[in-house]
Formats: sequence, C-alpha cells, structure tokens
Amino acid sequence: MCGIVGYVGPREATPIIVEGLKRLEYRGYDSAGLAVIQDGRIEVRRDVGKLANLERMLVESPVGGNIGIGHTRWATHGAPCPRNAHPHVDCRGEVVVIHNGIVENFLSLRQELAAEGHRFTSETDTETIPHLVEKYLAEGGDLEGAVRRALGRIKGAHAVVVMSSREPDRIVAARLGNAGGVVVGLGEGEMFLASDVLAILEYTRRVIFLEDGQMAVITQEGARFTTLDGQRVAKEAYAVPWDPISAAKGAYKHFMQKEIYEQARSITDTIRGRVDFEAGQVCLDGLGISPEGAQAIERMFIVACGTSAYSALVGKFMIESLARIPVEVDYGSEFRYRDPLINERTLVLALTQSGETVDTLAAMEEARSKGARLLSIVNVIGSQAARMSDGVIYMQAGPEIGVASTKAFTASLVDQYLLALHLGKLRGLIDSARMKELVEHLAELPNLVGRVLGNGNDYDALAAKYFKRENFLYLGRGINYPIALEGALKLKEISYIHAEGYPAGEMKHGPIALIDERMPVVAIAVRDSVYEKMVSQIEQVKARGGIVIALATEGDEAIAGKADHVIHVPPTSPLLSPVVNVVPLQLLAYFIAVRRGCDVDQPRNLAKSVTVE
Ligand code: AGP
Repeated sequence: MCGIVGYVGPREATPIIVEGLKRLEYRGYDSAGLAVIQDGRIEVRRDVGKLANLERMLVESPVGGNIGIGHTRWATHGAPCPRNAHPHVDCRGEVVVIHNGIVENFLSLRQELAAEGHRFTSETDTETIPHLVEKYLAEGGDLEGAVRRALGRIKGAHAVVVMSSREPDRIVAARLGNAGGVVVGLGEGEMFLASDVLAILEYTRRVIFLEDGQMAVITQEGARFTTLDGQRVAKEAYAVPWDPISAAKGAYKHFMQKEIYEQARSITDTIRGRVDFEAGQVCLDGLGISPEGAQAIERMFIVACGTSAYSALVGKFMIESLARIPVEVDYGSEFRYRDPLINERTLVLALTQSGETVDTLAAMEEARSKGARLLSIVNVIGSQAARMSDGVIYMQAGPEIGVASTKAFTASLVDQYLLALHLGKLRGLIDSARMKELVEHLAELPNLVGRVLGNGNDYDALAAKYFKRENFLYLGRGINYPIALEGALKLKEISYIHAEGYPAGEMKHGPIALIDERMPVVAIAVRDSVYEKMVSQIEQVKARGGIVIALATEGDEAIAGKADHVIHVPPTSPLLSPVVNVVPLQLLAYFIAVRRGCDVDQPRNLAKSVTVE
C-alpha cells in the first residue's frame, strides 16, 4: 500500500525520492507527492495518478534541496485527487507529513483543531497530524517533542514521517502498530528512510527496522532511536542480502513475467543451504524446535491471506502427511475474531510474502497472546512477521515486485515441505532411508519447473483463444484443489475475468449449473490418486458443452480424447506436484491479462502489501 521514501545528505533529494517511489510502485497507489526543503522553505509537489504525472510536474516546477520526503498514496479517507495526496502541511507551511495508516479519531481531532483556528485543505485523516505538530510546536519545544505529543493523540496503527523548516536538518519517523514498515537506511554521510528496503537498495543494504512504538530522528550524521516516551533504544543494523539487480525488470516486459520465469532459480535458492542431499537431511535447526518440543505439538494453525492462504492449504496436506500433526488453515482476517482454541501445545505458522499484511500480523498477535509458539515463513527480510516470530523460514525467493504473487507462492510451498520433513523427522516418523527419498524429490524440482517454463509460448496460443471470455472455472482435487483456487485467483486479479476455483467433487453441488459452451473449465487432472475422479468430472463438463483445458501428466494421451486442450506437465512426487502444476496456471493468467491489455504488475484496486484491515 502507501509507499514512503526520505533522504537527508549531500545529494539532491528529489531524484532519490522519485527513484525510490518508483521502486515502490508495485505496492499499489493512486497519487504521489514529495516535499523538499529548498532555501529554508518547504516545497510540496503532488499529483494524482501515476508517478509520471508527478515527474512531469517536477519538470515544469522543479524543486532542489538536500532533505526531503515522498509518498505514494492508496486512498482511504478522501478520493484520490491532488489535494488529498501526501505530503500534507500545517497552516504555516512549516511542518510537512507523510503517513501510512488510518487516524481513527480524525473526526474529533479535526473538529478540535478547526475550533482552534487550524485550516484544513483536504479530506484526509492524515492532515490532522501536521496541525497537531504545529499546535505543539507553538506551545514550545522542538520538532521531536511536538511529534511525540502529536502521536500520543492519534488512535490506530501508523507509520508517520515528519519534516519541518524550523529544524531543516532532520526527519522524524515513527511506527505505531502494524500499518506498514519504517526502515532507516544507513549511508556514509547520508541517511535514507523507506517503507520497504527495495526503495533504498541502490544506496545501502545496511538497514534498521523500527518496531511498534519506536521513533527515529535521522540527520546527515546518523540516526537516533527512542521509544514513544523518549527512552533511548539501541538498535542493530540488518545486512539485506538482496542486490539491486534482482529488483530490476531486465529484459522482461513485466515483473510478473520475470518472476514466473525465475522460478527454476528461485526454488533452487529456497532449497539452498537447507538440504544435504547426500546425507539425506533437512537443516532447519534455526527454528529451535527440539525432538521433545516437536512431539509435544498437538495441533497447528497456519494463518495467511490470499495466495499465501492457498499455499497454506497445500502445506496442510504436507504437514499432516509427513509430520502427522493436525493442521487448520485460517484467514488472518478471520482467525482473531473467532476465539481460536490455542494453548502452549499449539504451533502457529504465519505465511506471508511481505511479512507486513496487517490481518496476518493481527492473527499472530492473537496466537501469541494465547500462548502459542509462533513460526513464520516470510520473504521480505526483517519484516514485522519475521521479527515477531520465535522462528523464521525465509522464502529466499528474492524481491517479488509484481502484485500477483508467483515465485513467493512456489517458494512457500517448498518451505512448507521442508518444515513438514523437519517436524516429521523430529517426531520420529521419517527414517533416514525415507528422508533420502523425500529430499531427492526436491532435488529434481527446479528442473521440472524449468521444463514447464520452456513451453511458455503454448500458453499464449491458448490465451489468444480464450482471452475474451468473462468467466472461468478451475477444478482440482486433493492436494491440487488449492492450486485450482490459486489458478482462479491469479486470473481474476490480473485480467479482471471472473474465475472460481473449486474442489472438483463440489462441482455437482452447484457450479455445474454454470457450465455451457461459453465456460472454459481448467481441470487439474494429473496422474495421482484422484486421477480417475478428475477424469469423470471432465466427462461431466463435456456432457454439458463446457470447454475443458486439462492439465495432465506427460505421457497421458488418453485425456486428449476427452479435453479440448491439454497442457502437459512432468510427473512429480504427489506432495510436490502443486509446485509444478501451478506454473502453467500462472502463465495462462499472465498471457490472458497481457492480451486484454491489463496492467499486469499493478492491477486495479490491489496493493502488494495490504497494511489496512
Ligand atoms: C497474491 O497474488 C495477492 N496479491 C494477495 O492475495 C497476497 O497473497 C495477500 O495479500 C497476502 O500477502 P502476503 O503474502 O504478503 O501476506
């Protein structure tokens, strides 16, 4: 969602901020703006729409200065329009604020401030913050103190960044709750701020993350960290292992395309360092689970949202099969509102690419408050979910920029397989010979995914045939039922085609009424224990005139006689087949969206990290 960038140092702030905001475009936004202190005065430029509009404005009306802040806004209060775009200033133009989150008590604050004579120029909740800071500055004290007092007045979860022409050498930033991250980037004689490390990766890989209830004051010389009540906090810097090239589009047309095609490599990276193929061992010792601890686990919850929740549904099959622990999968947004049955023998696994999804973080807090042990599978290094957990498995997928998750999905499947093997071993359920066999299946995975990717152009031909359809149905069974859900989600989020995923056996209980000659049905019918059942679903679709696109195992020629189109995938071990089977569905969604002329990387209304409830 909203993106934040800040800079203080010897260089021109504007290009650094604009470039940083560009790197955050993937998060989703509807307007953008920046503020720079130029000759002792705050200069604001902001516009609605894409960053190109702001850049045009900056060409017509340039701003120069060595300290500044910038923002991409995803509207919550007030329509996307220039006056509602951030930054927001106080009455005198001396205080400027950018903000992620929602000021829940903004109506009463606005009334109070208006009654005191403050003039508001936007409909946003954010605008209350510069006026509060202005008010407290007028009562005496410095910027940091005034920000502290202002933060004490606002309710909700926030990331707030404040600058003032009264103290033109510093930027004050704070994090309250889980409205998105605040990262301080440490340079040599210069400092950076961002909501996400990708924005500043080009300048520094040494970063410090603000925790809930912490503030940072950054100047050219360095950063100072405190709690909201002013206690000094010693913070350690993280070294981010990503390099700026991994966050660039390269020769690809879209980030999503790049990320789909990267999967043979990203899966290799996910496995790297965690499996000893010769000895037949999985090494996740960093999770700190002892054999006794693993034996004591009575049940598991996996909490996640969207694509990550579908990955979790696959993880349930893996963990129940290999570690024999009962697993429930819950949407983060539901978990905390249903008083889940948790005790200290419950293991809660949070699955989140960004590590900042507010619903998942809230579910984690709920689990923690009830005494569960908390693990997470996370892609973004140092993100809030990772910092909250007792143990973390990083996806090692590299930065994922396309809003539609692809390589993080496959990485998280592999991570859950590793976790299932680890727990199964600790619980004494997998002996060495079996472990060797199970990890061998992993070893061949990158190659199998690479083979599917090699047939990329076939999907474009299929897309050309069906991109004008307005409805799709996806069917799968067993461990591939979540892949049907994921295939449908990928299609709907980037192409705006209505698509539903169903466990194939459920088709006859309702969705079958939708089937006619206009309905393409994507059926995952690979050779596994439910193959025959899938074939009979295909027959039922054909009997009603539907169009069947079947995903079938290489060598299965029989299915060609039953389906309209067959996509072949190489055979895999049943527990890992979702990793291979999802790739054609990603490609099909991608090519259809491109043919429909959609904005593949930044689909309408969607954000990469969803930091509001
Ligand atoms: C994925 O394609 C979606 N954009 C979305 O469902 C996403 O998976 C969801 O918002 C959860 O994100 P997370 O993994 O970063 O928590």
